[in-house]
Amino acid sequence: MKHPLSAVILAAGLGTRMKSSTPKVLHKIYGKPLIQYSIDSVQRLNPKNTIVVVGTGSRGIENSIEGYKLSFVVQKKPKGTGDALRTASQLLKGFNGDILVLNADTPLISASTLQRFLKLHRANKDDISVMSFIIEGPHSYGRIVRDNDKVKEIIEDKDADEEQKKIKEVNSGVYALKAHMLNLLKKIKLNKGKGEYYLTDIIGLSVKKGSKASAYVLGNETEMTGINTREDLYKAGLYIRDMIVSEWMRGGVSFVDASSVFIHPEAKIGADTIIYPNVHIEGKTVIGKGCTIYPNSRITDSNIGNNVVIKDSTVIECSTVKDKAAIGPFAHIRPGSSIGPSSKVGNFVEIKKSIIGEGTKASHLSYLGDAEIGKNVNIGAGTITCNYDGKNKHKTVIEDNVFVGSDSQIVAPVKIGKGAYVGAGSTITKNVPALSLAVSRTEQKNIEGWAVRRQVRSEKLEVRSEKNKRRKGKR
Ligand code: UD1
Ligand code: CA
Repeated sequence: MKHPLSAVILAAGLGTRMKSSTPKVLHKIYGKPLIQYSIDSVQRLNPKNTIVVVGTGSRGIENSIEGYKLSFVVQKKPKGTGDALRTASQLLKGFNGDILVLNADTPLISASTLQRFLKLHRANKDDISVMSFIIEGPHSYGRIVRDNDKVKEIIEDKDADEEQKKIKEVNSGVYALKAHMLNLLKKIKLNKGKGEYYLTDIIGLSVKKGSKASAYVLGNETEMTGINTREDLYKAGLYIRDMIVSEWMRGGVSFVDASSVFIHPEAKIGADTIIYPNVHIEGKTVIGKGCTIYPNSRITDSNIGNNVVIKDSTVIECSTVKDKAAIGPFAHIRPGSSIGPSSKVGNFVEIKKSIIGEGTKASHLSYLGDAEIGKNVNIGAGTITCNYDGKNKHKTVIEDNVFVGSDSQIVAPVKIGKGAYVGAGSTITKNVPALSLAVSRTEQKNIEGWAVRRQVRSEKLEVRSEKNKRRKGKR
């Protein structure tokens, strides 16, 4: 390979400004840890290897980002970015190419920006280069100090004097260096104020040594944002949200109020789907074409077919909804469910780990758990599957074309055969044979004239109490 590349991602800092027990780089934007955004961008450059420097307090990182080819190295104490790269250099012995270094807390830097930076670094045959950007207003980034246009050093905000503080060109935390430049890391002196070895000092050291050092202004302030506080995290989230939503608009998806919709980076949405305000589409959800998703719904890790209507305030988790089904309003589809084509799950219906067949309707106020329900079944309002006996869960099977009358309880394990009817208000505890009627309530009794007799009785009582009052008054 002409230009072998290694990447190093620095992720061992304490992230104290987040005020959190979770390592900073594991804070998430739309379900994806910050560090994973950097890793995804870096991997698009096809480095030979990617080294992640983690701290002793951030061991969880290894488990949180699976499915990548990464090498981890532990920086025992967070002694600064210079020390972090030095720790990584153990794994770079014998490597003879370019090293791309970046902070793990800059999730918005795109692969194309990194690519452009690397191209400049290589084209100009730099020994070391740093990616910079221009920022207005107050901030705490390191200042790029230039001497007759040539980069001279980087001065951290804390160490900058009044004049240096006015410099608008700042350090993004992305560097490219030839492997032999790693030798300079030993020469970085401890910054006494912060008790850290600053990687930024390597620029000044390179210039003094006569190496070729450059700073390239690329990207913009938003893209280069380093996440140090919860506010930074929030703002980066909004930026990513806008990018994702715009991408889906280009893909043919309509939004009523895009500013209130949140779509995870791995979710997919088909063309001609319309999304109302306050909708959250999470995880690896796939939504088909021509769907309508009404306000306040949350869909997580689910597969939604084509032309599905999801009405207001519906939650769908880890489930499948087939073409032309209608769900909600106020429905809850819990994990492990499959809702058949052209079926209807209506108001206040909860479904858990159940299969609902084609054309089946459960329109109002039901709980269906651990159930296997066939085609064209009608589940009357208020039907409950009693799936739990206090210890174990049991299965309910309702075959095709069954009609379950309202307010029925179906005590599992139980099976209702094809085409059978269940009378309203029944408690079903035994299997129901196909094509039969099951009723389990006391027969209705009509007592004729009862209301008239009741009326007469109550009038008599009233007359009597009036008399009593008058008698008492005379005394
Ligand atoms: C750093 C730069 C600053 C730049 C800014 C860009 C230094 C000294 N300063 O400042 O010039 O403008 O990034 O966002 O480098 N880390 C370790 N080990 C440590 C300390 C930090 O791995 O001992 C990691 C952190 O996890 C983080 C990254 O290095 O991902 C940067 O550390 P941070 O403390 O956020 O540096 P900044 O103060 O933002
Ligand atoms: Ca930072």
